[in-house]
Amino acid sequence: MQLPLASASPSGLPLVIQGGMGVGVSNWRLARAVARLGQLGVVSGTALDTLLVRRLQDGDPGGDVRRAFERFPIPDVAAAVLQQHFRADSSLAPRTYGLLPMYRRTVSVARQQLTVLANFVEVWLAKEGHAGPVGLNLLTKVQLPNIASLYGAMLAGVDYVLMGAGIPREIPGVLDALAEHQPAQMRLDVEDAAADEAPEWLSLDPRALWPAEPCAALERPRFLPVVSATSLATTLARKANGRVDGFVVERPTAGGHNAPPRGELRLDDRGQPVYGERDEVDLEKLRALGLPFWLAGGTGSPHALRAAREAGAAGVQVGTLFAYCDESGITDVLKAQVLAGVAAGRVDVRTDPRASPTGYPFKLVEVDGLATQDDTRRRRCDLGYLRVAYRRPDGRLGYRCSAEPVEDYVAKGGDVADTVGRRCLCNGLVADVGHAQTRDDGVERPLLTAGDDLRELRGFLAGRARYTARDVVDYLLGA
Ligand SMILES: Cc1cc2nc3c(=O)[nH]c(=O)nc-3n(C[C@H](O)[C@H](O)[C@H](O)COP(=O)(O)O)c2cc1C
Repeated sequence: MQLPLASASPSGLPLVIQGGMGVGVSNWRLARAVARLGQLGVVSGTALDTLLVRRLQDGDPGGDVRRAFERFPIPDVAAAVLQQHFRADSSLAPRTYGLLPMYRRTVSVARQQLTVLANFVEVWLAKEGHAGPVGLNLLTKVQLPNIASLYGAMLAGVDYVLMGAGIPREIPGVLDALAEHQPAQMRLDVEDAAADEAPEWLSLDPRALWPAEPCAALERPRFLPVVSATSLATTLARKANGRVDGFVVERPTAGGHNAPPRGELRLDDRGQPVYGERDEVDLEKLRALGLPFWLAGGTGSPHALRAAREAGAAGVQVGTLFAYCDESGITDVLKAQVLAGVAAGRVDVRTDPRASPTGYPFKLVEVDGLATQDDTRRRRCDLGYLRVAYRRPDGRLGYRCSAEPVEDYVAKGGDVADTVGRRCLCNGLVADVGHAQTRDDGVERPLLTAGDDLRELRGFLAGRARYTARDVVDYLLGA
């Protein structure tokens, strides 16, 4: 019989990272439950500003958001947000949520403060009442709110920052600057830009958010980029503009977005990208970098954790198992439908190369009888997190998303071919966690994601209809 693993590696690093899962799937409840057990609980920072105002518009049941508001260190901000967005009587039907202005390269101080506040709240609640480690996950590609999100999480004392979906080369320097309340900046990606034009910058001056002097200097969190290839880890270890503290290495079986296969895109008979030898991670080269790493993508089992440790990893990052546990943000109704589907062998996971406007493959859960977002959705763009900046013919910056109304996208110079098969991830993912927008023609439908191993959950469930984050951690550690 094998003995259970100790709960942390000898270096004090977590054995298990509960992966960041947007939008709002890895919320503060889930991260807190995992962090309390001494493993790394990670909140997703993606679109938290929208989730915050929707929670307030729903009346903040339980008062958690307002409890965290009381601890927000920048004076007057929380009161102003409360005044503007809190609806005590949340029974007003139909539920049509008020919207925030969509992000742009420059936004008002109040808009920045709201993003800072939203990330503060999530991390503060995740850290409340215990000393376990809490991380923040952001997507590099969702560029516009990222600096403000990082600052908010740091004000709440976030211990780790994890970022994938892109090459987060400038983030270490941003973290260093923000820890000292110094201005931070990074380059904005601009489509259709002339080769010789000057770069555009995204920036945040923390002092501009405070009416007077800011609080004392902040802890600089550890930074773990999420990478799919050793070459990317090497680039980041050598060429990032500051300290990188380790890596999460994610394989294409992982839930959410995946890195596209290297080389020419080939599809299997279900239209999924085919991965090959070139997509395998060279663990030997990774070890040679001398930084800790965690393996993700189909590593949600005690066996996989042991194998990862034997391969030199500090541990594993797990998403899918945590995504469907009691504490995750996915609504109880959707969780029950998916888990019933798993038990009955009626679920499927398909890697869709077109669905995400990011252009990265995205995994979609298909359950018999569950209506998810499809081509019949009338296109609208009102959350806008996946909009990218582009250079307009008049020289100014514009913003577009390939899932917005086709005619709008084309009028903005976008290629019609880019719009084919796109889903509105913003509205679909927000619907997953119980904050679907109600419209004249119906309610936004969910869009669920999970790793290829979703079906394997059947063995773990062993007849149960539900389970907790503690069940997952105990299972992984062999307790
Ligand atoms: C519902 C869901 C949402 C996810 N969202 C994100 C995300 O926002 N950012 C990110 O870096 N990874 C995201 N992931 C990936 C996880 O953090 C993790 O790396 C992955 O799930 C591990 O593989 P597994 O699904 O086989 O356990 C998501 C995964 C799931 C299942």
